[in-house]
Amino acid sequence: MNQSINQIKDSLLAGQPIVQIVSFEEKRIEGFLKKLCQQTLKTLNIYTWESHNGLSRNDSMIPDSKEPAVALDIALAANEAAFFVFKDLNSRLRHSPGLIRKIRECYLHFKNSKKFLFLLSPDDYLPTTLKKEIDIINFELPDYEELENLCAKFLESMEKAGIQVQLSGEEKRNFVTAVQGLTLDEAYKAYMKSFQGQQRIHIGLIEKIHLEKKQLILKENVLEFLSPALTLADMGGLDKLKDWLMKRKKAFSKEAREFGLDKPKGILTMGVTGCGKSLASKIIATLWNLPLFRMDMNLVYSGIAGAPEEVFARSLKTMDSVAPAVLWIDEIESGISDKQTDGSSSRILGYFLTWMQEHTSEIFIAATANRIDLLPAELLRRGRFDQIFFIDLPTRKEREEIFTIHLTKRDNDLSQYNIPQLAQITKNWSGSEIEQVIISGMYEAFAENRKLNEDDLFVIFGNSVPLATTMEEQIKKVRSWAHNRAVRASTDKEY
Ligand SMILES: Nc1ncnc2c1ncn2[C@@H]1O[C@H](COP(=O)(O)OP(=O)(O)OP(=O)(O)O)[C@@H](O)[C@H]1O
Ligand SMILES: [Mg+2]
Repeated sequence: MNQSINQIKDSLLAGQPIVQIVSFEEKRIEGFLKKLCQQTLKTLNIYTWESHNGLSRNDSMIPDSKEPAVALDIALAANEAAFFVFKDLNSRLRHSPGLIRKIRECYLHFKNSKKFLFLLSPDDYLPTTLKKEIDIINFELPDYEELENLCAKFLESMEKAGIQVQLSGEEKRNFVTAVQGLTLDEAYKAYMKSFQGQQRIHIGLIEKIHLEKKQLILKENVLEFLSPALTLADMGGLDKLKDWLMKRKKAFSKEAREFGLDKPKGILTMGVTGCGKSLASKIIATLWNLPLFRMDMNLVYSGIAGAPEEVFARSLKTMDSVAPAVLWIDEIESGISDKQTDGSSSRILGYFLTWMQEHTSEIFIAATANRIDLLPAELLRRGRFDQIFFIDLPTRKEREEIFTIHLTKRDNDLSQYNIPQLAQITKNWSGSEIEQVIISGMYEAFAENRKLNEDDLFVIFGNSVPLATTMEEQIKKVRSWAHNRAVRASTDKEY
């Protein structure tokens, strides 16, 4: 059963005659209110007021009732058990003490009768003078069950139309999870768009649903939607991190909740530059089949989109609405740090901590940090992130994997390379540096109209010094910091 409906019921049972329901989904809520009316009043008697039509009773119009004051008078005078549902009334309350007065009268009159007033609106505006009399309920977006029903109906109608549905049970569930965070209308449209004109329904169509979500996010300009492109196979080494992520593949599923698991909150990866922190964040989304959004903290602070703390808060709300999803906050220390002195960053930190603690949406945070010493202790406290991973320079075995990945990615024939030897001589090189060497070598080869060979790589290695050598001290510091505070992302230790 939908939580919000239970909340409304509780309000009515507690003798609360006026409830404000905040939602964009009028049709869906009217459906719920009909059922609730039957249950509480044992009869269906619903008056609905809309600014352009006025009042109607069980769908038949009452003439001359467009003026809200008139409609409220009719409600006051009605001598029967009824639900009065007023749409779009809130915005009129801003400048109308007369209407506010009328609503207070309703409160007094309805209190011991079987009459109930519902104010429906997409925002939660309410004059302060009415806050005591009215319960505000933020109506939840459709839950898993509602969406599952919708999806099942869609698939059934496809099958009836002779279209093959080739989805396993798990894939069906993926289709349901994919529309979580959308309104029922939006979910309906997303299914329409991805199923329409198809000969058969298969898991690949889920992409279109992710694109729908992307449209929603684009309205928010500090968030960027990233198409899933990388998989686990693109990341060399880091076995412990991979294992952690694999085990949580179904972390946001209904089964996980039923099994008694809390939904995961997020991970923080920290460590040496160029070793795969950003890469890992991108991979989570593909692996878990969730859309990926990146929050650009520099844009948040730029002021382009408004006051930083407001923009930040609004973006997190937007994320709540597109859940389940992965929110990637790269180099979190540049945005959320207590070392900056201006007020907005400490307010942002405060907001973020509260949100981390309290949000109920299925948003997984993938945060990365280079300068972990800049991060406030509160953020690192146990229980904020599910795990803090330390990504060190790749070990010898890991470098072998990284060579293999990047050489094959660029169509080089592996049999032409002594991978173990390459790994041996690149001690202290980061994944990103190894990749860059392969790219530079390929430019050399390309200029000479031939394939890349091992000698190209050796020459470059001989002429360059990896960052880790020049930054030895810093790396030592990071390692010792990480020693007690983070989990190494790899089990292997042989550099
Ligand atoms: N373990 C790895 N396996 C495969 N490729 C890697 C690995 N680590 C780094 N790379 C390559 O290096 C690139 C840069 O790595 P990435 O951006 O993830 O590093 P980072 O840890 O986020 O560094 P920075 O601190 O500079 O942001 C990746 O896109 C990838 O191509
Ligand atoms: Mg990075």
